[in-house]
Amino acid sequence: MPDVLTLLAERLQVGFDAVAPGSDPVLRPSDRADFQANGALPLAKRLGRDPREVATAVVGAARLDDVCETVEISGPGFVNLTLSRRFLGELVVGMAAEDRLGVATAASPDTVVVDYSAPNVAKEMHVGHLRSTVIGDALCRILGHLGHRVVRENHVGDWGTPFGMLIEHLLDLGEQEAVHELSVGDLNGFYREARASFEADEGFRERSRRRVVLLQGGDPETLRLWQVLVAESIHYFDEVYAKLGVLLTDDDVVGESFYNPMLPAVVADLETLGLLVEDAGARCVFPPGFANRNGDPLPLIVQKSDDGYGYAATDLAAIRDRVGRLGAARLLYVVGSPQAQHLAMCFAVARLAGWLGEGVRAEHVAFGSVLGADRKMFKTRSGESVRLVDLLDEAVTRAKAAIAERGADMSADERGAVAQALGIGAVKYADLSTDRTKDYVFDWDRMLAFEGDTGPYLQYAHARIRSIFRRGEVAVPAPGTPTRLDEPEERALALALLGFGSAVASAAELSAPSKLCAYLFGLAATFTDLYERCPILRAPDQERRDTRLLLADATARVLATGLHLLGIAAPDRM
Ligand code: ARG
Repeated sequence: MPDVLTLLAERLQVGFDAVAPGSDPVLRPSDRADFQANGALPLAKRLGRDPREVATAVVGAARLDDVCETVEISGPGFVNLTLSRRFLGELVVGMAAEDRLGVATAASPDTVVVDYSAPNVAKEMHVGHLRSTVIGDALCRILGHLGHRVVRENHVGDWGTPFGMLIEHLLDLGEQEAVHELSVGDLNGFYREARASFEADEGFRERSRRRVVLLQGGDPETLRLWQVLVAESIHYFDEVYAKLGVLLTDDDVVGESFYNPMLPAVVADLETLGLLVEDAGARCVFPPGFANRNGDPLPLIVQKSDDGYGYAATDLAAIRDRVGRLGAARLLYVVGSPQAQHLAMCFAVARLAGWLGEGVRAEHVAFGSVLGADRKMFKTRSGESVRLVDLLDEAVTRAKAAIAERGADMSADERGAVAQALGIGAVKYADLSTDRTKDYVFDWDRMLAFEGDTGPYLQYAHARIRSIFRRGEVAVPAPGTPTRLDEPEERALALALLGFGSAVASAAELSAPSKLCAYLFGLAATFTDLYERCPILRAPDQERRDTRLLLADATARVLATGLHLLGIAAPDRM
């Protein structure tokens, strides 16, 4: 079943082609009717004719009578289309009969590499990693649902000069004690102590420097110690991922160190292409279009004056690997906005080097900061950055309190599972529902509220529908059951349901889970209108009851599927 916008566009296209080939209907949902086509205006301009007259000609030549109740020319030449109740009913019955609920799979599936989460070894995960992890997870689910081949890459920071200091600190503590500290998740403490020794003690500094050389030289014992740090940290990150309920596994860890063997080839390629420039001993590329405040060209440093490779070299190697080895057609980087310039420069250099061909899209899926109530960076009372684990535990504790008075008939286990779904869902939804490029204020009361654009509101809307079926002991009407859309609320809900496919598609296209959130919130609100005005179980007759049950069931399934695509659980009872 094609979605309704595609179908209307095809019908109108016939009318447009009859007036003049090469024009486009430009359809969108409308407040005045169901849909509006704006294409007559640009066409009239091109032909030097009156837009209303052109619109009339288009409508005259298009066959719409079997699908539309009314077709009106309004304003300067808009075409307002209202679907016939019968046709709308057929569409929604067809959509409800599908497992995919009107979400089409991609016509040409792509390999999409999603770079996200990317915490740093021996460092605590903070709210920045929360954003990357949650947004990246939703994008992987959405793209996968559309049939794309999704490669998740957790670009863990597991290499670089700090590891000299971290390994020496591990030795000073004793390996067992170090492992213990890291395994209980005291990563901040570990890092802070290492840093303190480094700052206070010249001998420690010297040892750390020698250790970096050993690490880079591949000394087996040093590599073993490094591996201890990496393994313990990843083990800890896994616990956070499990609390969050995201798809990431150990198989998705492709840390910075993975690219080490590829770095000489990156430099060699750039050298051969004549792109490398020596600048104060460092080897750089100056991609056109990047300048500092004084207008001087900006370098992307590929190899430092001490011959070491930096963050940028690794990102270049990653692009080369993702396109070359994995065959990616699209690269997504779910990374905070402050790294915009770094990534733009890497993409530009990769284009110059031919690693990013014309057909490959590379996108920085940038996001803003999480702010406290004071609109400053989100911090603990003592001014430290908030540990992500603590935040997630608090979310569940608060959710437990919020449902204490509800669901008296739930077992302790079920109550625990619901609190988990609610708390984690609230945090995720608050993050996903804002335009990701903007900062947002972290506000427990707002995100856990059962009213408003929140995770709990959507979860509750879903559970409420499930409970209608449970309480009424009714089944979903079988396919072919006669249905009738009479009330405006029924019509509105049918139309809203038919928008699921394009909401998922636009979230994928724009790398914007907020588009899906906004859609689901609109759908739940439209359902609430119906629920408040049109009795379902006590509908006036069988046909209307069946229609409403069918709409309710489809709504619950769209909510559950949509929440699932956002990585949010949808319990049946709350
Ligand atoms: N590890 C970095 C951080 O914590 C993020 C890495 C982002 N991904 C990348 N390919 N550069 O800030």
